[in-house]
Amino acid sequence: MARHLLSAADLTRDEVLEILRTAASMHDVQRREVKKLPALRGRTVINLFFEDSTRTRSSFEIAGKWMSADTINITGKGSSASKGESLRDTVLTITAMAVDALVIRHSASGACHQVAEWVDASVINAGDGTHEHPTQALLDAYTMTQRLGDLEGRRVVIVGDLTHSRVFRSNLLLLKTLGADVTVVAPPTLMPSGAGPWSRQDGFALEQDLDDALFGGPPPDVVMMLRVQRERMSGGYFPTAREYTVGYGLTRPRLDRLRAANDDVLVMHPGPMNRGLEISAEAADSLNSVILDQVSAGVAVRMAVLYHLLVGTDGGSIEEGSA
Ligand code: ASP
Ligand code: CP
Repeated sequence: MARHLLSAADLTRDEVLEILRTAASMHDVQRREVKKLPALRGRTVINLFFEDSTRTRSSFEIAGKWMSADTINITGKGSSASKGESLRDTVLTITAMAVDALVIRHSASGACHQVAEWVDASVINAGDGTHEHPTQALLDAYTMTQRLGDLEGRRVVIVGDLTHSRVFRSNLLLLKTLGADVTVVAPPTLMPSGAGPWSRQDGFALEQDLDDALFGGPPPDVVMMLRVQRERMSGGYFPTAREYTVGYGLTRPRLDRLRAANDDVLVMHPGPMNRGLEISAEAADSLNSVILDQVSAGVAVRMAVLYHLLVGTDGGSIEEGSA
């Protein structure tokens, strides 16, 4: 595997499958009473978050700690970035302390690629603007494969604010690598520009009508709802919240219809959710929902990613450690 994880496109199918296999071993560790492996003993991992996060930041921190790495969190607000220090000076300052990996979330698309050119440490993209969030796509793939096995030919419908979603972009890339049959659904105002040629080139289907996408063909195996990202919106992208929900929300009646077609359909959401807007409480809390499984998978997958980037597969047994 390459030294950095910047995009879901960086990973070959074999590398994805290898990470998912390692994540399954890590998931077993997660179920133990004593959750500690020596694999990253002596390594230092810095979580550098310039945007808010609950799941990603805490799961990277837990992942590092369970693998015996020294992990430190730095946030934009509490660091000297708030005094005007540039991103370049910030990362050069941090890596001057001999860190092994930088996990970065930043509001600028491309920020992680830029940082990877400046530093020797491994860089992991934990979300850059509206661009990518590769470890989210990996944990989503892990969650799906745990329930469905091989994703080749599985029908995945991704719904919501596609324009602002880095989760959507990384999932599209990774699901293509794994051979899933993907349909994406959004109102015209939240469909990314250039989506038409892009979908023809990358072989996914576009829909503007959610009911057609869900009920117009073979029933989906997975319905992934995406958050309406109001913090990235400057104008009105839809008339009212109510109209958005009626057109694009996973409401109770839609869930019932979905379940009638496929009782085992998986309901996913990367979180945080706008309950009552893109997803109803009934759907979020239903037996079909794997939203908390996604969170749990986040730790195992991030352990696996840290392991593969910092130790590689030649570093001996996961249980034995590298140092
Ligand atoms: N938490 C995910 C992200 O940071 C999804 C979201 O915020 O809607 O991209
Ligand atoms: N899914 C996700 O990235 O969540 P956070 O923004 O809480 O990290």
